[in-house]
Amino acid sequence: MSQRILIVDDESSSRTALEMLLRREGFEVHDASNGASALAACASLHPDLILLDVLMPGMDGFEVCRRIKARPETRLTPVVLITGLSNTEDRIKGINAGADDFLSKPIDLNELLARTRSLIKLKQYTDELEHAEAVLFSLALSIEARDPYTRGHCERLAEMSSRLGERLGLAEEDVKALRRAGVVHDIGKVVVPDAILLKPGPLAEDEMEVVKKHPVVGESICAPLKIFGPVLPIIRHHHERYDGSGYPDHLRGPEIPVTARILQLADVFDALTTDRPYRKADRTEIALGIMDDEANRGWWDRELFDAFREMIRSGDSAAANHAEALPIRSSPA
Ligand SMILES: [Fe+2]
Repeated sequence: MSQRILIVDDESSSRTALEMLLRREGFEVHDASNGASALAACASLHPDLILLDVLMPGMDGFEVCRRIKARPETRLTPVVLITGLSNTEDRIKGINAGADDFLSKPIDLNELLARTRSLIKLKQYTDELEHAEAVLFSLALSIEARDPYTRGHCERLAEMSSRLGERLGLAEEDVKALRRAGVVHDIGKVVVPDAILLKPGPLAEDEMEVVKKHPVVGESICAPLKIFGPVLPIIRHHHERYDGSGYPDHLRGPEIPVTARILQLADVFDALTTDRPYRKADRTEIALGIMDDEANRGWWDRELFDAFREMIRSGDSAAANHAEALPIRSSPA
């Protein structure tokens, strides 16, 4: 499939010259003559590269670039700013607008083709990464869908745990990891048969052993994807307990990564406030009371639990509010 390039320039002669050259090289080329139509074309065509003239009447190239980079669906699309001015100030302005590269007018055609090819190659890599992540997310959500009682669990966990991470001032990378882990933390349940996953009564010891495999299996499913590096410890350790009585590695206290300690609070809270095959859900305050007892027993990080409780009580988590909407309740596995 040929790669798609969008040329944005108010001068039709410049557009035509670039179009002819790039078409000859096998690219699919589209054009726009102003900022507004460029943004519309960007949203509908999903180009693999945008060649964007800086000097245009109305919305200039810097502003168009800023808007492209501000939209989550187009932020990874490479933008090359074409400018007649090669002064440093404009380069800095372009970098601040999120431009990926620059070309000066008059355009050197060999340079144009070399940069176009290398940026498009880079875009292919990021597309592949996004596809791989999307596959993992769909697998995780299809596993969640096996159990009608856990509907929306992944989404609520992603929201609650990343929100707590933000409130605690965690690094952006950790907050992002919490969001991803919220979705994929139970992906290893792919190895747990329905007869066990959906069993209404308490699990037998051998059945529990099967369930206990899911953090390690989940870690190995996500391990090949490099960007999931910070997510792996969360997946592996989301069932550890502060006193070492959890699984799979019986880690204790601060040995358990802080991101895993955060996610497990959201996981337990969501389990308590949602009906499960083996019990009815608890109201928010009853659930927090149960978790408070468990923190006293040494299961959860007391400091983190207090911060979590404060967040839930303040209503600073859209996902937590679902608990208030539920009428009845009681405790999780
Ligand atoms: Fe789990």
